[in-house]
Amino acid sequence: MEVTKIYRMPRGSVKALDRVNLSISAGDFISIMGPSGSGKSTLLNIIGCLDVPTSGEVFIAGKNVSKLSESGRTRIRREKIGFVFQQFNLIPTLTALENIAFPMLLRGERRHEEKSRALLRAVGLSEELGEHKPAELSGGEQQRVAIARALANDPEIILADEPTGNLDTKTSREIMGLLKALNERGKTIVVVTHDPLVASLTRRTLRMLDGRILSDGGATDSGETYSGESDSGEIDSGATERSDREEEWKAQTETF
Ligand SMILES: Nc1ncnc2c1ncn2[C@@H]1O[C@H](COP(=O)(O)OP(=O)(O)OP(=O)(O)O)[C@@H](O)[C@H]1O
Ligand SMILES: [Mg+2]
Repeated sequence: MEVTKIYRMPRGSVKALDRVNLSISAGDFISIMGPSGSGKSTLLNIIGCLDVPTSGEVFIAGKNVSKLSESGRTRIRREKIGFVFQQFNLIPTLTALENIAFPMLLRGERRHEEKSRALLRAVGLSEELGEHKPAELSGGEQQRVAIARALANDPEIILADEPTGNLDTKTSREIMGLLKALNERGKTIVVVTHDPLVASLTRRTLRMLDGRILSDGGATDSGETYSGESDSGEIDSGATERSDREEEWKAQTETF
């Protein structure tokens, strides 16, 4: 792909991606690092067909997805892509198992019960936890459920935007271990992270700045000397008012 993304705002426009040229091979395990606002999420959302570039093209498995209609992109997302987010984005009124089954129900999968139980086990959670609502699970457990949900339609690609951003170091490692295991089973995985430890566990690291890719290389050197704490000191401000949760959940269902 080579893409530019410009957000047009009332007070001028923001070039979130500036002629980013990127090729990802099937089976790759990639981390994207870079300061806040450098375009990481924008890039991930464009790769995931959640958003479209202002100019440029994106090919997935040889198909030019930038030329697709909204519904064409939705189909690609459901068939090929699983999303994982920092805030887990589980539906609070559903149990863990029901959350995992949700994308299957959207697709009309008949064996959703059996399949969601298998996914629950695959991400290392007990049957009992399957009956818990998200609020009755730890952060790590919620992220496991979210990963199981991302796997519901057996996607080839998993895109994770700061999946360990709300987790402690030990739990982050566990979640990365889970993603690594999925990668070893052939899934292509892209993880946006601020955490050098997380990046050091992937095979390839892209560093972004001001909408461009600064460097594209193997695992970070900082991995070995990792001190156990992210140095970015960045905390999600949580400033977003969650006034209309219904709308929000509806928007989330866009991603699976
Ligand atoms: N929907 C939007 N409308 C307008 N501008 C946007 C939108 N989304 C992102 N931007 C702008 O595009 C730029 C890149 O944002 P992006 O969210 O991709 O950054 P990021 O690297 O993911 O940052 P963070 O680490 O804080 O998540 C920023 O300047 C941001 O303000
Ligand atoms: Mg982001």
